[in-house]
Amino acid sequence: MSNDLDRARVDADVVASRLGRHRVAVVLGTGWARALDEVAGDDRPASVPVRDLPGWTPPRVPGHAGSVSSVHVGGTDVLVLGGRTHLYEGSSAAQVVHPVRVAVLAGAEVVVLTNAAGSLRGEVGPGEVVVVSDHLNLTGVSPLVGLPAPDGFVDLTDLYCASRRSDLHDRVRSLHEGVYAGVVGPQFETPAEIRALRTLGADLVGMSTVLEAIAATHAGAAVVGLSLVTNLAAGLTPTVDHDSILEVGRNSQDRLAEVLTAAVAGN
Ligand code: HPA
Repeated sequence: MSNDLDRARVDADVVASRLGRHRVAVVLGTGWARALDEVAGDDRPASVPVRDLPGWTPPRVPGHAGSVSSVHVGGTDVLVLGGRTHLYEGSSAAQVVHPVRVAVLAGAEVVVLTNAAGSLRGEVGPGEVVVVSDHLNLTGVSPLVGLPAPDGFVDLTDLYCASRRSDLHDRVRSLHEGVYAGVVGPQFETPAEIRALRTLGADLVGMSTVLEAIAATHAGAAVVGLSLVTNLAAGLTPTVDHDSILEVGRNSQDRLAEVLTAAVAGN
């Protein structure tokens, strides 16, 4: 565990020395990368390829860029973590949360985690953006395992910062709010699993975010979680498929750009 933190410190030093310190970091999930390009306009962001960061595990999923960039969003320079890796790729919890740890050690006080998710609420369909209010970590792992007690006993009561959520609702109309269930994947859920998740209190289901939120909080940053609903979850729709998920991402750029700008501006 201390090796994980040491690895993060090494990469954080590279990031901070090449890009400077940033108060806000954004992790880009499926669909969100293009929205950021739109927000950044013609600015050519300064960036560090993740191959220059020895502790980083490059992502293997198409659509996840492999660099860390400093991007001007509204009036703020944000650190954009383009390379996310997932448990379903075979990465460990430590590898999954490494980028977030790097961002916080490089100065981030707020981490905005974006993702694509399936919706368990029929009335919140593809293209809607949901502010994550809380989560169910159903991955069976924690990035804090191995920390010497009591360091890992982190309070998650306000995991998805309530004041920032409220601020975001003031800035952006018609945002939903919901509980995100984080699963390992890569298979989508069965209809029975979705019914069970609904009973457990989930509004969204996805394969990222929960471990990063825990690690960011542990490292001392506030967390904002934003989900693009790309599909209704299994059993609420005839099929769930990855191509349609990517297509919803492509078609939602203006809305994602609006929400991302507001989320960053609120800090
Ligand atoms: N399930 C899990 N992960 C997802 C989904 C889903 O329906 N949609 C996008 N990511």
